[in-house]
Amino acid sequence: MANIGSYEERIKNFDWSVSEKELGYKPGDILNIGWYCSDRICQQGKADKIALHWEGLGGAEKHFTYNDIRRASNTIAAFLQSLGHASGDRICLFMDRVPELYIGVLGILKMGGIGQPLYSAFGDESLYVRLENAETSAIITQRKHALKVRKILDKLPHLKHIIIVDHDGKSPLRDREVAFSLEKAAPVEDFGSYPTTSESPSLLHYTSGTTGQPKGVKHVHYSLISQYLTAKWVLDIREDDIFWCTADPGWVTGTSYGIIGPWSLGVTQCVLDGGFSAQAWYKFIEKYRISNWYSAPTAIRSLMKAGDEIIKNFDLSSLRNLASVGEPLNSEAVVWSEKVFGKAFLDTYFQTETGSIMITNFPGMKIKPGSMGKPFPGITATILDPKTYEPYSETGKIGLIAIRPGWPAMMRTYWNNEETYQKKFKNGWYMTGDRASIDKEGYFWFVGRDDDIINTGGHLVSPFEVESALIEHPAVAESAVVSKPDPINMEVVKAFVALKPGFTASADLDLEIMNFIRKKLSPLAMPQAIEFVEQLPKTRSGKIMRRILKAKEWGEEIGDTSTLEND
Ligand code: PRX
Repeated sequence: MANIGSYEERIKNFDWSVSEKELGYKPGDILNIGWYCSDRICQQGKADKIALHWEGLGGAEKHFTYNDIRRASNTIAAFLQSLGHASGDRICLFMDRVPELYIGVLGILKMGGIGQPLYSAFGDESLYVRLENAETSAIITQRKHALKVRKILDKLPHLKHIIIVDHDGKSPLRDREVAFSLEKAAPVEDFGSYPTTSESPSLLHYTSGTTGQPKGVKHVHYSLISQYLTAKWVLDIREDDIFWCTADPGWVTGTSYGIIGPWSLGVTQCVLDGGFSAQAWYKFIEKYRISNWYSAPTAIRSLMKAGDEIIKNFDLSSLRNLASVGEPLNSEAVVWSEKVFGKAFLDTYFQTETGSIMITNFPGMKIKPGSMGKPFPGITATILDPKTYEPYSETGKIGLIAIRPGWPAMMRTYWNNEETYQKKFKNGWYMTGDRASIDKEGYFWFVGRDDDIINTGGHLVSPFEVESALIEHPAVAESAVVSKPDPINMEVVKAFVALKPGFTASADLDLEIMNFIRKKLSPLAMPQAIEFVEQLPKTRSGKIMRRILKAKEWGEEIGDTSTLEND
């Protein structure tokens, strides 16, 4: 029997105090996620249980017990304090998936800081806008990524320290750089965690916006209440399980379910710091006897592409609960996983802003391949008519996914941008910005986004950010960025570029522009295709009509072009 038991029973009179009681939390108490994910588990007699099996590139391995992560997070917390950082300070984590990243999040939370995890593949421009917006006071990073920080340091007066976790002890440290080694630092046995309470800020996750700079989604320590229970009931994590979340903590999945969910449940989790390869992934599952696996449609489609034969070389019988998040999970992928693993991937839906799973398939529930399932207990989700912002009175109609605010992991605001936050609400509903329909049995069917944001392999890319970076290239006069269909990533970035006089389109220029974006922003934001055009379609008021370019890419009807200037 799965942890959730009967969904129908659970939703009757559901109240989040179910989770509070299991965690031993009473409203008004001190609530520090760092403490809940390490000290509390040790107090439950699990100090010697493995918290983290870690594997890096080239087969390096490290293993940490709950007592190890308790002590190591104390050590990081004390080090940050010794440098003068205090509660409420934004501390960025800019690392590959090394143990310091996972344990560092707990350390920052323990000293009352606000963790700002950023994807290590970000280029200097992507990094800069996020550090500048958050007025980040320290960044914890690796040597290879410190180079990107050095490039933008002069423009970041708030950044006091660049903490390098793998300094070789020889090369000179530059301006504001300090070395810290988890292995060499004197371990801090006792650290009185900062007395944060439910509404104290915990994490700042940046997500793409359509028209402006990325938005910093502010979460609070109370998010634990949702993250613990969703991890328990949806990912079905139990005492002796071995859990693997393949997401990077630069994204919300990697913190909500790659750190907080599993560690607050005291389970053993595994991290693989390496790129994707079907061989390596299956080997990892076999080696650690992974039972619960949380991944993403892009990865699942890549595994499908690698074929069924390879699976026969591995013993994957340990797998019990499979789940997916980040983008639509095609029905073929659900059917395939049932065939090859004997288990269907459960499609789960949430957002950086929601902090925890909102709509989902549950273990034990009837699965309709292609559907996102039903709302988690305590979540009131509906489909609104886009004209009236009222819920439809009948089922089956496509409209806007909206959720009643008030669950514990809901974002509290966008950092320094309360105005945009307020715009996310209509008629008392939180507007997700996604479109879907609900069938007669209450299952949600995802249709698409309601804005221009590109979802490439589960990662949101803002066309605005890519266009802004493109015009910084000397050859680019103007550009428009849209999504283009792709068999593995579902969508990829495509750029239409008008060149400045004196420049001619060529394969070399194409590659040069792609690389320019990859270095400035990230490999994900890099256009996979560039089309050079004489001019871009614009409205008479001069607004680029991305809609027309996108419709062409997707082979859709172009629609109304009456406002088109140059037709
Ligand atoms: O468009 C939806 C899509 O991803 C968006 C949220 O992205 P982000 O804030 O980066 O968070 C990703 C990690 C949860 C949503 O607005 N999305 C997420 N899950 C699904 C999905 N689209 C379809 N099906 C899903 N299961």
